[in-house]
Amino acid sequence: MNEFFSLDQIDEVATTISAQTTQSPSVGLILGSGLGTLADSVEQPALIPYDELPFWPVSTVIGHQGRLVLGKLEGQPVMVMQGRAHYYEGYNMAQIGLPVRVMQRLGVEILIVTNAAGAVNPDFNPGDVMLITDHLNLIGMAGLTPLRGPNLDELGTRFPDMGQAYDWGLNDLAREVAHENNLLLREGVYASLSGPSFETPADLRFLKAIGTDAVGMSTVPEVTVARHGGTRVLGLSGISNKANLDGSTITTHEEVLEAGEMIVPKLLTIIRGVLNRL
Ligand code: HPA
Repeated sequence: MNEFFSLDQIDEVATTISAQTTQSPSVGLILGSGLGTLADSVEQPALIPYDELPFWPVSTVIGHQGRLVLGKLEGQPVMVMQGRAHYYEGYNMAQIGLPVRVMQRLGVEILIVTNAAGAVNPDFNPGDVMLITDHLNLIGMAGLTPLRGPNLDELGTRFPDMGQAYDWGLNDLAREVAHENNLLLREGVYASLSGPSFETPADLRFLKAIGTDAVGMSTVPEVTVARHGGTRVLGLSGISNKANLDGSTITTHEEVLEAGEMIVPKLLTIIRGVLNRL
């Protein structure tokens, strides 16, 4: 396993992709658990299975298809990750960050990242969509960051600013689209944990106390790499379940996937609307 990737290795992946399509993506999309059917809307798709790409982390989790879809959405050239890999699957943080690095080398300037998340905010319900306005990098605070290792100076600075991790301009576009389509768009802070076990009630009380609205097992490493390389980010969480704050209910992966079906049409409306306004 590669602990860190060199620019040459990242470019090797990028070249493998560009050899299979004439499209140069300007928007990257990462689809979270149960949200993969969003990629079905991509026009003139070129499909590349992850296992045909060097170094690429292959998702092993049910609900993650594991391929790239390159094509057009609302006229924009997009590169969609239909499924992502998570740290808990055994990949290291460099591997989790690799796809975003490759996107950057292919010319992607905007990353739209989605995930399934549990609602810590008691006002949120399964099926809601939450605009991620900020994140709590708990997994990073514990030392797990994709930026560990030699800094790739060609891509970004050693100490990247994270003040506007989620781009204010893109957030406004998402709000506008939601409003025009009469869609309830929640807003809040996403906290990233490693998983794969769901949280204990004490974990959740802690998360709530520090300002978490939704909790999940992904996204923050990819956003960190995106911001390091100057890529603007729009983050959307699909709320799949209410977090089990008092221990009286059981959270399951099946529930997470089921909620995805409710969430995909809403996400698609927001993403199409934002792409249309770029
Ligand atoms: N916790 C953590 N990750 C999740 C959850 C949750 O409740 N739901 C979906 N992903």
